[in-house]
Amino acid sequence: MKIIVDTPEKLAQLAAQRYVELLKNKPNAVLGYATGSTPLGLYGELARLNAAGEVSFAEATTFNLDEYVGLEGTHDQSYRYFMNKNLFDKIDIKKENTNVPCGIDMTNEKAAQYDKAIEAAGGIDLQLLGIGHNGHIGFNEPGTPFGSVTHVVDLTESTINANARFFESINDVPTQAVSMGIKTVMNARSIIFIALGADKAEIVKKMICGEVTPEVPASVLQLHPDVEVYIDHAAASLL
Ligand code: F6R
Repeated sequence: MKIIVDTPEKLAQLAAQRYVELLKNKPNAVLGYATGSTPLGLYGELARLNAAGEVSFAEATTFNLDEYVGLEGTHDQSYRYFMNKNLFDKIDIKKENTNVPCGIDMTNEKAAQYDKAIEAAGGIDLQLLGIGHNGHIGFNEPGTPFGSVTHVVDLTESTINANARFFESINDVPTQAVSMGIKTVMNARSIIFIALGADKAEIVKKMICGEVTPEVPASVLQLHPDVEVYIDHAAASLL
C-alpha cells in the first residue's frame, strides 16, 4: 500500500496523472468509478485534462461501484445521473461504454451479471474508491463477506443518515442499493483510494493500521497488491 499525503487539489492532480499514464499505455482500459463528494476534484481534473487534449477516454470502458435501488438513472440523486453530470458529459467517453448498475427491478441474480460483464470487458484495470465513516467501500457495509460479488444491499442507518442531506426528507432516501462486492473490487488490477477531511481520519487509521476484518470492509485493501492511498493532511492526522 503506497500512501500519498497532500492537499485535496494536489491529490486530484496526482491521481489524475494515473489515468493519463494508464490511458496512454492502454487506451481501451477498463476504469472502475465511484460517486460521492470525494472524487469530485479528481473528476474536475480529468475533465480539464480531457479538454486540454492530454487524455482521451474515447476507447475506455467504465464500471461504477454502485447505485440506489428504486431510482431511475434520470433521478437527480441516482449515481448514473451523478456520473453523467460530473464526468461522462464532460469527457470524450462513449456513453454506451459506461456502466452503472441498474437500480430498477434489481435482484441478486441480475446483480451477479455485473461481475460477468466486468469479466467480459477484460477486468478492471484501475478502480477508484472512497470510504464511508463506517469503513464501507462501494456500499459494502460492515459485515459484508470478503468473497461477495455484486449484490443487493440493505443500507445501514448510518449510511441512510449520511445520505439524507441529498434528499428532501430522510423518508426519500432509498434503503437499498446494488453494489459491487468486496471480491469484485479486489479483482481490480490496481486501486486508487481517496479520503479527505478530519471526519475520515479515524476510519482511515483503522483501514491502514487496524485488523483486516469484514467489520471494517476497507481493511481488506491491506491484502491487495497494488493500492495507492491518496489522503489529505486532515484524513492522515491520526496515522
Ligand atoms: C459511492 C461509494 C461510497 C463512497 C463513500 C464516501 O459510489 O462508493 O462508498 O465512496 O460513501 O462518500 P463521500 O465521498 O461522499 O464521503
